[in-house]
Amino acid sequence: MEQRPLGRTGADVSVIGLGTWQLGGDWGDVDDDAAAEVLDAALDAGVTLLDTADVYGDGRSEERIRRALVTRDDRPFVATKAGRRAHPFEAAQYTPENLRAWIDRSRRNLGVDTLDLVQLHCPPTAVYSDQRVYDALDSFVEDGAIAAYGVSVETVAEGLTALEHPGVQTIQVILNVFRRKPLEELLPAAAKAGVGILARVPLASGLLTGKYDESTTFAADDHRNFNRNGEAFDVGETFAGVPFEVGVAAAREVAEIAGDSVPTAAFALRWVIDQPGVTTVIPGARNVTQVRGNVAAASMANLSDSQLADLERVYDERIRAHVHDRW
Ligand SMILES: NC(=O)c1ccc[n+]([C@@H]2O[C@H](COP(=O)([O-])OP(=O)(O)OC[C@H]3O[C@@H](n4cnc5c(N)ncnc54)[C@H](OP(=O)(O)O)[C@@H]3O)[C@@H](O)[C@H]2O)c1
Repeated sequence: MEQRPLGRTGADVSVIGLGTWQLGGDWGDVDDDAAAEVLDAALDAGVTLLDTADVYGDGRSEERIRRALVTRDDRPFVATKAGRRAHPFEAAQYTPENLRAWIDRSRRNLGVDTLDLVQLHCPPTAVYSDQRVYDALDSFVEDGAIAAYGVSVETVAEGLTALEHPGVQTIQVILNVFRRKPLEELLPAAAKAGVGILARVPLASGLLTGKYDESTTFAADDHRNFNRNGEAFDVGETFAGVPFEVGVAAAREVAEIAGDSVPTAAFALRWVIDQPGVTTVIPGARNVTQVRGNVAAASMANLSDSQLADLERVYDERIRAHVHDRW
């Protein structure tokens, strides 16, 4: 699989990574065996970057990664996140002491002395411009608790703010066929600064597989049920903020553009990794079939000019009004 340098971290990572929110919770049940199979299948297929967070299943995703890795010789780059354990969820909670406690817990969960990468996990906007937070993170790099840090953002504006801080090595942002705004300013600015981009929610929570229809329902413990209107966290994380029925109709058009011989999911992922400035894309997967389908995007042909133009038209006609000015 193609590997790309992750910003200035010194690490090369696979162009298709693995998102492991599904291995923690919020996506219906994924049991221990299924989680282990997903991790093994991804690593066997050449995935060398795993994205997790301390709050995915309250640490379950990180612990499952630790358990999967003890049985293997290879060592992927593990990007975790900190900051969503803050109670109340406000900027004042982002103290050096709290950050350190969250990071130390992730080190224990993952069974490592030094975390490869810690990303601020979509904190309140004010945190991205708080120099004390970056100073704390710099001190954790110096004492070896973390090798590098980055940010995960909801908005392009937050990403641009983070880029003003030279210690930031990576930005994680929603980028997919239905979320194109980062292409305008954020990705060029990140490339210029030598900052890696992790593209998340690349399938718009599954919409861009083309497999749902207007009657599809989701389990009670799946955020695609309980966060449909942003009840639990930013609605942009659920179906990329696109109203479900709008997304289903637009995804039907995307599937037609992909054509019968190309799975829509791989087509949508190929679009993401071909955007200049993207380092890696981190689709989430609940089973081995999904992992393999996603990895296939790395060896697929690039999209044609007419396919690219058609995707842009679908965005402009159906999606832009719902998302472009919001994130
Ligand atoms: N704030 C943050 O920093 C943040 C927020 C969100 C996500 N993330 C990270 O980004 C990762 C990716 O985003 P995401 O998981 O939210 O959304 P996503 O990758 O856009 O969608 C994942 C869903 O797509 C479906 N899917 C995946 N591969 C498929 C395939 N080949 N064929 C058919 N269906 C497939 C599955 O849906 P079904 O479950 O219906 O099968 C899966 O649960 C997460 O796992 C997490 O690591 C970070």
